[in-house]
Amino acid sequence: MDNTKKIYFAPLEGVTDSIFRNTFSKYYGDVDKYYTPFISPNSTFKFTTREFKDINPEKNDITKTVPQLLTNNAEHFLWAVHEIATLGFKEINFNLGCPSGTVVAKKKGSGLLYYPEELDQMLGDIFSGLKDDVQISIKTRLGKIEPEEFYEILEIYNKYPISELTIHPRVQKDFYREPIHPEFFEYAMEHAKAPLVFNGEIKTTDDIADTFTKYPAIDAVMIGRGLISNPELSIAYKNGQKTSPLDLNKFKLFHNDLLVQYIDILSGEKPVLHRMKEFLSFWETNFPDDAKAIKKIRKSNSIKEYKSLTEALFN
Ligand SMILES: Cc1cc2nc3c(=O)[nH]c(=O)nc-3n(C[C@H](O)[C@H](O)[C@H](O)COP(=O)(O)O)c2cc1C
Repeated sequence: MDNTKKIYFAPLEGVTDSIFRNTFSKYYGDVDKYYTPFISPNSTFKFTTREFKDINPEKNDITKTVPQLLTNNAEHFLWAVHEIATLGFKEINFNLGCPSGTVVAKKKGSGLLYYPEELDQMLGDIFSGLKDDVQISIKTRLGKIEPEEFYEILEIYNKYPISELTIHPRVQKDFYREPIHPEFFEYAMEHAKAPLVFNGEIKTTDDIADTFTKYPAIDAVMIGRGLISNPELSIAYKNGQKTSPLDLNKFKLFHNDLLVQYIDILSGEKPVLHRMKEFLSFWETNFPDDAKAIKKIRKSNSIKEYKSLTEALFN
């Protein structure tokens, strides 16, 4: 365990919103940065109510929260950068990794990686047009179809003062399940100018330690699913402990706090249940012997039923 190493919370659209991030921080703190799920600036030059809520400085620790943008238009990007910088945020992240079909079809996220000239042009316009005192970081995949696309992409990144380059070493067509390509992260270690962050498939404190051992020059890892499934992961690593079964008393307080807040802000029981069941798909790995109970929770139709079933599970 090395105290100088950092852990960042990856953005997960539909999961890690400001309520989740703040509640996570209240119970499990100790994460160095939280990336927001992507915001899509467009020709309206307005954030949607939902987007603004998620980056509202009154609802976020602006020293640790990094808003993320998804667009292929430098003008829209720079507009959003200015608005977000004015709110006090110090870093803004550019999403060049989203693999979703609808996003990629619009040449956004990892879709833009397939058009290196356009990517270069856009980064050129962003960095030459940047007037605000903020850092621009990038979260990227290796390419769209073949990981070898990354050689050219990295050459483009190397032309710009990117504050941090987070690499999820998969291509778009790998989505989230195919094996990662760590050899391309190794290539980046040798050739990237920006400080690197590793992201992908980190699930245990040993995985964190192994990543820092394998890539000694990196200062940070970004974790998504592993940290949602096991919210104690970062704290355990930083305290020099091994991953252990969840402290269910603490987890119950965390869970109940989330539930109360979603009941408060979402209208109707269905959206609340939908949201909590989404979390459950990550949390269920902590309950390997309770498949039946989890199945029942997944089928619950009312908050009352959901509450009594989760209460029974945690006890
Ligand atoms: C449901 C879901 C939503 C995601 N939303 C985003 C997003 O908004 N922005 C982004 O950069 N990555 C997004 N990701 C990718 C994650 O940030 C992360 O790169 C990916 O899960 C791999 O890391 P992990 O293995 O630690 O989870 C999403 C992933 C999932 C599964």
